[in-house]
Amino acid sequence: MSSTSRVAVVTGAARGLGQEFAVTLAGLGHRVAGWDVDSQAETAARIAAAGGEFRPVTVDVTDPVAVEAAVDEVVTAFGALHIVVNNAGIYPPIAFEETTVDDWRRVLRLNLEGPFLVTQAALPHLRAAGWGRIVNIVSAVVFLGPPDLVAYTTSKAGLVGFTRALANAVGAEGITVNAISPGLVSTATAARTTGAGGGFERVRASQAVPRTEGPADVVSTLRYVCDEGSGFLTGQTLNVDGGSAFR
Ligand SMILES: NC(=O)c1ccc[n+]([C@@H]2O[C@H](COP(=O)([O-])OP(=O)(O)OC[C@H]3O[C@@H](n4cnc5c(N)ncnc54)[C@H](O)[C@@H]3O)[C@@H](O)[C@H]2O)c1
Repeated sequence: MSSTSRVAVVTGAARGLGQEFAVTLAGLGHRVAGWDVDSQAETAARIAAAGGEFRPVTVDVTDPVAVEAAVDEVVTAFGALHIVVNNAGIYPPIAFEETTVDDWRRVLRLNLEGPFLVTQAALPHLRAAGWGRIVNIVSAVVFLGPPDLVAYTTSKAGLVGFTRALANAVGAEGITVNAISPGLVSTATAARTTGAGGGFERVRASQAVPRTEGPADVVSTLRYVCDEGSGFLTGQTLNVDGGSAFR
């Protein structure tokens, strides 16, 4: 892997997968801005301890004005923007019959409209650099369709379509667009929601690799997708789920 220093934005970097993505990219020598509605003190402390460069920005990725301001802040601080990791997302288990229109809109707004707003605001800077990596965090649910995650599955399947169409829109400009689809990863939020009530055991039993997926199982794919040598990889959904869905 090559080691040009780039500027990255990771949304939802306060905890969970987003925190691991931010720590990983900073560890590669990239300057990283974490965007979250919550405190990113833990992420900042981990990156500082490893000698990396991190700028926490408090921003709601569903607010177009705040997103524009956050892009300006990053570009002013770091002078450029090259990598966007659309990671912030929610996955509340709700039975389909009980899903209200507000539930539906809340899930699609953060998981699908958020990446649209962030990517559109960031894109002029990737274009100006003539190099970019847009990485959308989806989920293996797009292949599996669990019955209590209809809104969530719809939002992530939408993000797969976004990934493919946008890859065609920006492919001539040195910018790749890919999706990473983890299985069930042992973040605190997953443990409280999808993983509760034996969820981890059930998913483990469906995998070719019979252990619980951790954030470390996903970061190597992020490194690969963001690598300088991965410019011919685009429009793809890389399924990192221990083999529970062979697609
Ligand atoms: N954990 C899993 O099992 C799993 C599996 C597949 C895909 N994913 C996806 O990975 C991503 C991260 O999952 P996680 O388990 O790490 O979640 P998490 O709950 O640990 O982290 C999500 C982060 O997003 C932030 N956030 C929420 N709303 C926001 C907003 N409006 N603006 C900015 N930030 C906001 C939260 O504050 C939080 O820090 C999500 O997109 C999720 O759908 C997770």
